Amino acid sequence: MEHEFGSVLITGGSGFIGSNFLRYFYHAHPQARIVNLDLLTYAGNPENLRDLETLEAGRTEAQRRYRFVQGDICDEVLLEKVFSAGRFDLVVHFAAESHVDRSIFSMVHFVRTNIEGTRVLVETARRHAIPRFVNISTDEVYGTIAAGYAAEHAQLKPSNPYSASKAGADLLVQAYMRTHNFPAIIVRGSNNYGPYQYPEKLIPLALTNVLEGKKVPLHGNGRHVRSWLHVQDFCRAIDLVAHAAPVHSLYNVAGEERTNLEVVDCILRHLGKDPAACLQYVNDRPGADLRYAVDGSKLEGELGFSRVHRFEEAIGDVVRWYAANQTWWKNIRLKPGFLEHYERQSNGRWC
Ligand SMILES: NC(=O)c1ccc[n+]([C@@H]2O[C@H](COP(=O)([O-])OP(=O)(O)OC[C@H]3O[C@@H](n4cnc5c(N)ncnc54)[C@H](O)[C@@H]3O)[C@@H](O)[C@H]2O)c1
Repeated sequence: MEHEFGSVLITGGSGFIGSNFLRYFYHAHPQARIVNLDLLTYAGNPENLRDLETLEAGRTEAQRRYRFVQGDICDEVLLEKVFSAGRFDLVVHFAAESHVDRSIFSMVHFVRTNIEGTRVLVETARRHAIPRFVNISTDEVYGTIAAGYAAEHAQLKPSNPYSASKAGADLLVQAYMRTHNFPAIIVRGSNNYGPYQYPEKLIPLALTNVLEGKKVPLHGNGRHVRSWLHVQDFCRAIDLVAHAAPVHSLYNVAGEERTNLEVVDCILRHLGKDPAACLQYVNDRPGADLRYAVDGSKLEGELGFSRVHRFEEAIGDVVRWYAANQTWWKNIRLKPGFLEHYERQSNGRWC
């Protein structure tokens, strides 16, 4: 089954993965018109799509294929207008509050955007009989996996407020599939890394701290295992699923397992720094998950997906991207949205 799409809605397209996906989709599918609906919270950044905005500015109105709408996925009136005007044949839903550390301090925005926002979005999509809806979920919904790998049918056991809100959205979409025959597909991705990632997450935080001559805060003993997936591989996986997966299906997208310490070590080696001089161990997150590990074989077996990026090489390109794009992250690191959280996060203060 192969689909081609003429009109696509991407939510959260100004964030890290959303902007990478939007750029990927725009170039890979030159027949598609794309609307990006994004509230531009602290994590949303118009600079993430500046290249595309510039490209579009040189085109006539009739040639333009990209439109940005600033707005909230919880706003039912706005969504009704956007869906009526857009006549979408695909929705890819990224918009979310995405940082575990922030969810420990307050769950308010997480429940609102991730659960209520997803409800409003799927309800509007259902009313407009949207033929395909891809919900971006996360490997964190399975909780910590002591041994082995979580396949798609494994129980959801989220252990932090962020993953609980994402599991809520995931289950809500599944309920719509069953109850309303809603044509959704769920994609559960592993930890992404790559360009345009907001510098509060482990890899860009480590990189930008070192480039600013600061230490790298590491939670606990640094032995937590995450599965690392290059954002371009994730974008290819989502694109493949959007085009070829049957509706009502779920797919994990696995990465490569590394401890946080191994990840930071690798970054420091690329930057020519001595880990002993750069690391600062801080209190672990309360309830921290020790290992995320999903079984990605369904996507590989059914749809022929395979990753092209290998962590140790690909991280070198990411290091070079952050070194070459200092204005992008320095502007973020000066803003109150970054500074307010940075102090408590980098000192491991959890209340
Ligand atoms: N980053 C990862 O490693 C990872 C891994 C697997 C899945 N995911 C999921 O992928 C999606 C994108 O993650 P990300 O890392 O790019 O997040 P991000 O925080 O970088 O971007 C989130 C985007 O959503 C927008 N947004 C937030 N609330 C909104 C609202 N109410 N209405 C409209 N827009 C809103 C923000 O402005 C921002 O542009 C999320 O659903 C996340 O749970 C992330």
